[in-house]
Formats: sequence, C-alpha cells, structure tokens
Amino acid sequence: MQLGACYYPEHWPEAIWAEDAHRMVAAGLSHVRLGEFAWSRIEPQPGEFDWAWLDRAVTTLADAGLSIILCTPTATPPKWLIDRMPDMVARDAYGHPRRFGSRRHYCFSHLGYRVEATRIAQAVSERYGQNHNVVAWQIDNEYGCHDTTLSFSVAARDGFRIWLADRHGDIGALNRAWGNVFWSMEYRSFDEVELPNGTVTEANPAHWLDFRRYSSDQVVAFNAAQVAIVRHTSPGRDIVHNFMGFYTEFDHHDVACNLDVAGWDSYPLGFLESFRFGEGDKIAFARQGHPDIAAFHHDLYRGCTPQGRWWVLEQQPGPVNWARYNPAPLPGMVRLWTLEAMAHGAELVTYFRWRQAPFAQEQMHAGLLRPDSVAAPALAEVRQAADDIALLGSQGASPRMVALIFSYDSEWVTGIQPQGADFSALWAAFACYSALRQLGLDIDIVSPDATLDGYAMIVVPCLPIVDAALVDRLEQFPGQIAIGPRSGSKTSDFAIPRDLAPGPLRRLFPATVARVESLRPGVGHDGDGFRIEQWLEHVEGEAEAELTAHDGTVASWRHGRVRYLAAWPTEALATMLLSRAARDAGLTTHDLPAGVRLRRTADRCFAFNYGASPAELPATVQGEVILGSRTLPSAGAAVLG
Ligand code: GAL
Repeated sequence: MQLGACYYPEHWPEAIWAEDAHRMVAAGLSHVRLGEFAWSRIEPQPGEFDWAWLDRAVTTLADAGLSIILCTPTATPPKWLIDRMPDMVARDAYGHPRRFGSRRHYCFSHLGYRVEATRIAQAVSERYGQNHNVVAWQIDNEYGCHDTTLSFSVAARDGFRIWLADRHGDIGALNRAWGNVFWSMEYRSFDEVELPNGTVTEANPAHWLDFRRYSSDQVVAFNAAQVAIVRHTSPGRDIVHNFMGFYTEFDHHDVACNLDVAGWDSYPLGFLESFRFGEGDKIAFARQGHPDIAAFHHDLYRGCTPQGRWWVLEQQPGPVNWARYNPAPLPGMVRLWTLEAMAHGAELVTYFRWRQAPFAQEQMHAGLLRPDSVAAPALAEVRQAADDIALLGSQGASPRMVALIFSYDSEWVTGIQPQGADFSALWAAFACYSALRQLGLDIDIVSPDATLDGYAMIVVPCLPIVDAALVDRLEQFPGQIAIGPRSGSKTSDFAIPRDLAPGPLRRLFPATVARVESLRPGVGHDGDGFRIEQWLEHVEGEAEAELTAHDGTVASWRHGRVRYLAAWPTEALATMLLSRAARDAGLTTHDLPAGVRLRRTADRCFAFNYGASPAELPATVQGEVILGSRTLPSAGAAVLG
C-alpha cells in the first residue's frame, strides 16, 4: 500500500511547490492528486488554455519523485460556461436552479454539458496522458455530493421520457407496470410523463423508482463518456473515481464497472457526527469514529470494481469543516485509519489535504500542514504509518468468510416507501455488518450479481427486489444463509409480489410474510437478551421459530441452513442471529472488548482499538505479534502473524 496527498498548486505560490514536494516525500508519501477543481485556471476563457502553470506543477512534483493522479475538473464548470449554457445547472425538487458560486452546479442529464465535460477531459488527458509520471486519472469529484444526483430540470424530464419509452416500450405497458389506474394517473403518451416532484401528495412509488434508476443511469453515462476518452488518450493508467460515505443516490456498482479502481473519501469523524448513530456512540467515538464506518466502506467499495481494486482518495487528517461538530482525532487515529485501510486491501491512501487553505469555503478544514506550513499533528502519524507499511510489506488477499449482499435499489425502495420512520436498507446492512465485525468476522459486501463461491455464510440484510438469478445462486450455495426483513417484498416495478413476500426467496424459505407493522420507539416485544423494535413481520409457513419474545412474538425463523429475521436488526438481535449462523457455518467468532475490531489478510491478523481505553486481545485471537502488542492502547493497532 502507498500513501499520498491531495494538493492544489493553484492555491499556493509557485515558490513553495518544490519544498512542498520534498516534504511530502520526506513524510513517506509517493502519490499526489491534482487538478479536480482547476478548470478556471486551465481554461480561463473559452477555448484558451493555460497549461504553463500546470506543466510546471507536474514537473516540480514529478522531479521530487512523486507519482501523479490527475483529475478531470468537471465538478467545477467555470462561470463562462454557465453563462453560455444557463440551462446546464441542476434544479432541486422545488424547481430552483442550483446556482454558480460553489461546485457541482451541473445536471447529469444535460447533454450539452456532457459534451463540454468530455471536451475538457480530452484536453487535459491529451496534454498529460503520455507523461510517465501521471499514473492515474480521477474522473470528476464525488458524484452526487451536495445532493446533486437527482435533478428536476427540463433536460432531466426530456431524458426521462426517452428512457421510459426505452424501458417500457409502449405507454400502456408503463401504465400497467406502475399501476396508474390507481388514482386516474394513466398517461396517453410518454410525452405526458413529468418528473415525480411537486405532486400534491406522494407520487407513485413506481414513478419514483424509475426516476431514480434513470438518474443513476445518467451518472453512469456521464462517467463512462469521460472514461472512454481518458482510456484512449492515456492508455495504461488506472481510472478511478472518489465515491462518498453512506451515499446511495446512484448505483455505484454500475458506475464502478467502467473504472479500474473504486476510490472513496473517508471522513470517519464527520460521518459519525452527520449520520444516524446514537448519542452514546457519538460521544464514545467522537474522536475515533465509529469502529465500523471506515471498514464498512472499504469492504463495500472493494466489491464495486470487477477486479476488487480500491483506494482511499481522501483521508481525514484532522477536524473537518462540514459536520455539526468537528472534533480532532485522538492521537494515533490517523495512523490507525491508514492501517485499517491496509488490512482491507487498499492499494493507496491519500490524505485530504496537504495544507489547510486559509481562504474560501474550507478554511476550517485541517490538512497535514497548518496554513502557516507548520506540520499539523497528523503529519508525524503519516510518517509512522509509512514506516509500519514498509515493515509489514505487501498483504495477500483475505480468505473468504462472509458475503453481505447489498444493492443500491434496495435503499431506493425503502427510502421511497419506508412504511415506518427510519426504515432503510442501507442501515439494515450497516447494522448486520457491525454485528458481524463485533463477532470478529471478515466481510465482503457484494452486489446481488457477485459470485458466492468460497464463502461460509451469506447475509442478505434487506433486499426488497430479488432477481431470480440470485435465488438460483443462493440455492446452489452450500453454506449458511441469513435473510433480513422486507427481502423479496417487491417486484421490479415496485408492487407486492402476487404470492406476497418473500417472493422468489420462497424457494429457500418456504413461508409467507402475511402482515408487517412498524413500531414507534417504546413499543416492542422483549425477549431474552433482545427486543423486537421498529419493524415486525408476521410469518406463516413451514419454518420453525428460533428467537421468540416472552409474549410469543417470533423475531427470527429457521428453515434448514436458512434463517429469516422478521424484525429490524437491532444490535442484540443481529448479533444473536448471526452468531448462530456463524457457528453453524463453522466460523470461529471472538468475544472482542468494546471498540476492538479485527481484520485478516492472507496470513496476518490486524487488530484495532477504537475504544477510549486500553483493551486486551482475547486468547481466541492467535498469532505472534509483529507490530504493537496484545494490549492495545486507545487508538492503537497491532498485527499478528
Ligand atoms: C470531500 C470533497 C473535497 C473536500 C472534502 C472536505 O467531500 O471531495 O473536495 O470538500 O470533502 O472534507
């Protein structure tokens, strides 16, 4: 694994570039990422390019021995372009334009902008594509950031109509698929279909689901257009995009299948503060991040490209500027996060950013250097991580243990019709993932299309739309299977299957979900060591009850090697169910102290302590200590071999 930094030569006097480059190398960095927001400097006027500064920046960094990841600057189209093509901006759900003055002010559906994006990608990749110091290309920056995947523009509406005609063939088929007879919503032609925003009450969920699919396809097409150009003009370089955390607005499997490497941007403290973690976790892990946030995304994005290659393109080095509260990481955490990425198979971790900017929107965001160029606390940890990585050498791939199946359309379905506050397929996946990690297991998060060979156990936390091909593969899979609520509960057109849930999964679990209910906080059913909360399914059929509350309400069912969770996967319930499945799968689980997590590579076991106090590894974790010690300090890491 190698290390790098995100660098913005256009933000700093040229006189300090060389020194910056040498300090990067001295800190143990080998890569530098450049250019993702530099369009206004590369092409200050339409068609007039200023390459001189970027040529010098590339040369200066390369002369210091750094490998360069260049970006296409399409996340920040310049003012002159917006002025020429005002309808290229995205529109929010109220129809308001997303105006110029920050970034990502473009609509994925706007074909004129797509042409401009490929034009600038062509120009930059022609200029630097053959430079042997340019080793990779990042396309754009964080697709969808700032809520920009869905756009309710005229371009989106027109594109959606064409997409619908292509999907449904004739308007009668669309009316039937969506059930438009319901409120006299029938259309006479595709030209009558509007976008699903602005309706009096909720629009038809099938309408929303198709709009989400359409919007996701626009991201795929936007990315693919640039990838095609860069592949041609700069052959042999890796092509990557930096995805985000807990972000599901487009199908990352579809986008990533055109990339060589899936990148993602890891901000564990910002994510803990901004997402739906309990107050207890927000306080306990305020300076460490929840122990499963980074790992979840490492294991998710590893499953996104066909080759399983992935990088962290932005790693938080100190306080960020965008969460409600922005604490500093505990001493040791920047090193720990880096080694956790290594344990999950990252090839590269790049810190965002080299130096804190004293101006504009992100002036409160830490870098590896302070704005006055003095080293920030993270820089010494990066150096230490670089030494650790050198000591550990390359890590072989982890043996297959548990595959957790996640699909982006699951989250769209539960988001469109949650049927109970907070029901979310993504968070059901995270809850199961976290329970598995607390048992000390290694997890691959895979798409429903992935091969399941070699795993001991498959977990399907919540998959409303189930494809028959997946059911075939699950039927052939010889190991343990755990299926979560709402799986198989919808057809691909967002309707209840004729034979009810679990729909096609009935081949594995011969039962019927006869009724579902969502439960407000405080309403539930207590069992021994667990509680049914938030969601409950009443199941009829041949399966046997496995976990039952004191009042007889069944939380989970079992049919041979298949278990079905009929309730929300709370930590206790998920842990009970998944530890039984793991036992039956012959997997060794561990009784880990709170905040401690493990991850195996080919022949090593990494251990991390996200807790605020020291923790001892249990005796079940075996091996000789190669790095650290069996007593892990807070924010400490150990490697056993
Ligand atoms: C990312 C983004 C960066 C920077 C960073 C701040 O979302 O890609 O450009 O804004 O967040 O944490």
